[in-house]
Amino acid sequence: MNLEQQIARRRTFGIISHPDAGKTTLTEKLLLFGGAIKTAGAVKSNKITKHAASDFMEIEKQRGISVATSVMGFEYKDVKINLLDTPGHKDFAEDTYRTLTAVDSVIMVIDCVKGVEEQTEKLMEVCRMRNTPVLVFINKLDREGRDPFELLDEIEEKLNIRVKPMSWPISMGKTFKGVYSMYEKNLLLFQPSRRELQDDVVSINDIEDSILDDQVGESLANELREDVEMVSEVYPDLQLEEYLNGEVAPVFFGSAVNNFGVRELLDCFIDIAPVPQGRETEQRLIVPTEDKFSGFVFKIHANMDPKHRNRIAFVRVCSGKFERGKPYSHSRQDKKLKFSNATAFMAQDKETVDEAWPGDIVGLYDTGNLKIGDTLTEGEKGIFKGIPSFSPELFKEVVNMDAMKTKQLEKGLQQLMEEGVAQLFSYELGSRKVVGTVGALQFEVIQHRLKHEYGATCKFVPMNLFKACWFSCEDPKKLKEFMDSKYRHIARDKDGKLVFMAESKAWLQMVQDNFPAIKFHFTSEF
Ligand code: G4P
Repeated sequence: MNLEQQIARRRTFGIISHPDAGKTTLTEKLLLFGGAIKTAGAVKSNKITKHAASDFMEIEKQRGISVATSVMGFEYKDVKINLLDTPGHKDFAEDTYRTLTAVDSVIMVIDCVKGVEEQTEKLMEVCRMRNTPVLVFINKLDREGRDPFELLDEIEEKLNIRVKPMSWPISMGKTFKGVYSMYEKNLLLFQPSRRELQDDVVSINDIEDSILDDQVGESLANELREDVEMVSEVYPDLQLEEYLNGEVAPVFFGSAVNNFGVRELLDCFIDIAPVPQGRETEQRLIVPTEDKFSGFVFKIHANMDPKHRNRIAFVRVCSGKFERGKPYSHSRQDKKLKFSNATAFMAQDKETVDEAWPGDIVGLYDTGNLKIGDTLTEGEKGIFKGIPSFSPELFKEVVNMDAMKTKQLEKGLQQLMEEGVAQLFSYELGSRKVVGTVGALQFEVIQHRLKHEYGATCKFVPMNLFKACWFSCEDPKKLKEFMDSKYRHIARDKDGKLVFMAESKAWLQMVQDNFPAIKFHFTSEF
């Protein structure tokens, strides 16, 4: 198969949801359909429970699980599907945001009882940054959920995206009968079954067909007819372009735990979801069909075995063919690297891979050369854009508790930051180091890992900060004026970029008003 054919048969995506909506369950069912696993229950939940904050065994276990389930590759109807897992816990949101830079589309799971939840809204904002196409799966139809029209209105309103139902539920909860597929024009009857792959499809000629009344009863059949008529009036036909531009989200209804509606979702997904797309570098757009290999690191998993400082860098192939053992240029450091140990991810197994194609994810064993956001190419300079850091919201100053282990602490902090666990800011004035995170759990993870992997002990002192924001100014004189005036509040991030450490929202607003020439940014890429 040539490059074009390999690209055409690939789909790389992620599943996103608010915790508990059914992401793990849906992942498992997709893998069952893809034949990647044989029985339900095989995918361990990649969740950190509410209690885990103080349970370090759990955190260690999680790290193990999250490497195994980070990328799941499987074949379905001759399509190579790469499913990238995203942590559901909100404290690990940044990890999820970065993973979303490596996908071409997402499936969003929404619980029909709860509707659009907080985390769903945040994740949608991230999808919008790159206009990532979104398919919606409204889950748990076997429960008494909210009215489907109401749910669709809420999606449109809260997620700021238009929707197009592809299937329609016939009742819900105890009286749930199934869905009518407007995409395949057939009736899918529901039977609660947690194990079997359901395939109880009844073909009907059109919605007026009396088979419908026989199957679900006259009253529900008529209700469905009314609903479907209303749907076709309210929601215009799906224009593929609008979906691919991230403007319209096709919606499916089902019940993941009962394997219901999942095959329909998958069949539509492989039909309409985008093939691997191009990516912008600082210089130009690189398209997948270019002969030369290029890729970027979106995730680093370090020290799985604390005795060997091994790390796995997850690289998304953007163009050309990746070949194991071939020297590639590392754009940031301007040097050649050769990876003789490269891994592909098939289901939950890791296997050595000799070649990989655009859309694929390869795991490269690395001894400390690679950082998140790094670009590998066949010589071309330039770094892929779109893997920003976000302004953290929680800040603590790091205080070394063992003067004999200063080096270990510094090394540990640096490596954990490279892995993207949190962000480190060093104040210009004095040598204060501040760790910023999006969630409280990270501080415990950092402390635990510094001790166990680097032998360093530290304490975290809470700081009263509202946000760290990057800033820039076209006028060097005005920039200097600002920096002279606010020198106590200026720090540098891991790449040496200038950051303003704002103490409160009101104060940040005041500073913005007083220095209109300074631009403040809430992500590191601007
Ligand atoms: P997450 O990864 O998004 O956090 O959610 P997960 O799949 O773990 O699902 C959360 C809970 O919702 C699980 O129940 C799961 O069984 C249940 N669930 C998933 N899909 C459906 C569905 O279609 N209908 C119903 N009624 N429930 C569903 P749990 O009690 O937390 O775990 P378990 O003991 O059932 O595994």
